[in-house]
Amino acid sequence: MTKRTLKQKNLVIRRAKVNDCKVISKFTGGQKKDMIKRGEGEIRKNIDNYLVVEHCGKVVGSVGYHYYDNNKAEIISFYVDDDYRKNGLGTGLIYSCLGLILSRGIYFVFTLTTTSNLFSRIGFKKSNWDIFAPVLRKKILKDCNNCLRASGPDDQRCNESLLVFMYS
Ligand SMILES: CC(C)(COP(=O)(O)OP(=O)(O)OC[C@H]1O[C@@H](n2cnc3c(N)ncnc32)[C@H](O)[C@@H]1OP(=O)(O)O)[C@@H](O)C(=O)NCCC(=O)NCCS
Repeated sequence: MTKRTLKQKNLVIRRAKVNDCKVISKFTGGQKKDMIKRGEGEIRKNIDNYLVVEHCGKVVGSVGYHYYDNNKAEIISFYVDDDYRKNGLGTGLIYSCLGLILSRGIYFVFTLTTTSNLFSRIGFKKSNWDIFAPVLRKKILKDCNNCLRASGPDDQRCNESLLVFMYS
């Protein structure tokens, strides 16, 4: 996809509203998109943890976080519509989501991602599972049950890397 020049004034990153749940749910899901499917109900319950990016009033991307015990948050539902990619919207969403997470006093943020470069540029570092207690690792990996590609990170077909951002 070639870069499109979007006019900044037509773009806004904002907190998600209940009536954004449908489109966010549509953004997620399926092997094709390398994302875990999130139902509208699940998103609605956690709507305060979601952000969207709008272009001329149309929602064209989303990001959210899932809270785990011990003040840890996982970035989820990270998506930008195909036609709007490579314009910095994904990077903007991650910065805004980090701001939201840090503002809530959560200083340990991680992601399982196929887009390591983008996260690395922001300050995320590649890591391994040793940093999680076994019980938390198990909780995080429950999502692997919904992945069509692989059964978990030890499965050779898994194409995701674990990256961590720690604020100190
Ligand atoms: C991952 C995703 C959200 C990124 O969204 P995006 O809006 O394209 O993100 P950005 O524009 O900030 O960055 C994407 C790339 O474009 C580049 N880019 C950004 N602005 C640019 C510009 N003005 N000119 C040229 N390149 C630019 C970035 O450097 C980045 O390069 P990289 O691929 O080497 O990291 C999007 O590709 C997507 O939805 N993919 C499918 C779902 C998915 O994989 N989600 C992640 C699951 S873990």
